[in-house]
Amino acid sequence: MLYTEIVNKNKPYKKKTIELVETLDKDNNKVLLEKETFNYYEQLKKYLKTIGIEIVINEAYRSIEDQEKIVEEFKNIYDEDKLYKKVAVPGYSEHHTGLAIDIGLVFDKKEEEEENIKIREALYQEMHKHLSKFGFILRYPKGKEEITGYSYEPWHIRYVGIIPATIIYQNNLTLEEYLKDFAGILYINKPKDVTSFDVVHEISKLFGIKKVGHTGTLDPLATGVMLVAVGKATKIVELLTAEDKEYIARVKLGIMTDTYDITGKVIEKKEVPKNLNLEKTIFSFQKTYLQEVPIYSAVKVNGKKLYEYAREEKKIELPKKEVTIKKIELLDKNQDEFTMKALVTKGCYIRSLIMDIGKSMNTYATMMSLTRTKQGMISIEESNTLEEIKNNHFQIHKIEEVLTYPVIQVSKEEEFMILNGVKIKDKWNIYDKAIVQTEKGQLIGICQKENGFLKTWKNFKQPVNSMSK
Ligand code: DAL
Ligand code: ZN
Repeated sequence: MLYTEIVNKNKPYKKKTIELVETLDKDNNKVLLEKETFNYYEQLKKYLKTIGIEIVINEAYRSIEDQEKIVEEFKNIYDEDKLYKKVAVPGYSEHHTGLAIDIGLVFDKKEEEEENIKIREALYQEMHKHLSKFGFILRYPKGKEEITGYSYEPWHIRYVGIIPATIIYQNNLTLEEYLKDFAGILYINKPKDVTSFDVVHEISKLFGIKKVGHTGTLDPLATGVMLVAVGKATKIVELLTAEDKEYIARVKLGIMTDTYDITGKVIEKKEVPKNLNLEKTIFSFQKTYLQEVPIYSAVKVNGKKLYEYAREEKKIELPKKEVTIKKIELLDKNQDEFTMKALVTKGCYIRSLIMDIGKSMNTYATMMSLTRTKQGMISIEESNTLEEIKNNHFQIHKIEEVLTYPVIQVSKEEEFMILNGVKIKDKWNIYDKAIVQTEKGQLIGICQKENGFLKTWKNFKQPVNSMSK
């Protein structure tokens, strides 16, 4: 389950196996909350107390029957028109998830007096500022009634997780807008012993967004720069694949494994010749050459991945690809091991390069470790570890920042045209493609030039559906 799961007027609650825990409401009656939501609620409550705001739970988890009772009560107060802006149809309330809480303020003054209504609202507004640090959002904010379908509810908070809550709060969004429009690119420093897919999965969980993609797969053994696109940024994931990549690799001489790296089975051994001129040999590989694709790779031959041939022990002629080693240098050496740094073009296998270097010295060479220090212009120093991301201490990069296309801002009319797939006149004299923003700098999409006009190529923004009835 993602903590960002939407329940609104269009999306009924779908029953999930969630762990609910018991706690007490303002009158000391037992109420239920989803476990993580409860833990963060406790932290929020404790923190707010230190700044002089005392909170209690008015409402937490509700069954469908609970919601039916509330609707019946509300029918006595509100007419049909207002009713469903105040209360959800049973089955469509966020309270069914256990992730929503109606917060009460401990307030010893008469609530209904005008002066006190003001104080109460001021306290709620102060509370709103601190919600995201604990993974909560104000679910029905002022000015967003069209999107949420409900009137402003200063008390109704919803747990979504710290990263989504922070983004939603800082950008003045609703959960609907976040899930629909968020587009961000992360520069990640992948840790060892996890697959690139594991990283993608972790990011999806942390952001509460299903659509996450990556470029530049790194094997579990490898660490270093990997670009991950979240939400709408997945639409441009193929544009993020950089031509050049820089690596630092540690190498062991004298052995050959089936995978060409230290995780494989040793299949050959050969004594390492004395007096090797490692520096010179390595430098001689600064060239363009035809590199054989390693058998343990996902490259397809006749519709089948090469490693599948290897597993089945089937003979196959390995394809060759032209690669360029733009820069290569020896960083250090001791006995049968050395470290090298190489800047290579797309498609170059470092473990194959290492094997080729070994063979050229009449021995074998196997990759012991690999770190990608650069992917295109993006370096490992600018990248964030998964730990940093989990601690909400990281950078989200915008599409505008990562792609090198010029950015243009269009008028309301032009925006309408673009969103509806109509070409606009190119007043900016664009060469090929341009990133298009609204007058306010919100990303709309990428346009492509065609006979003096700009045509939508990638669209990031669809109008948010109105939900008010
Ligand atoms: N008051 C909120 C909208 C609910 O009934 O869930
Ligand atoms: Zn509520």
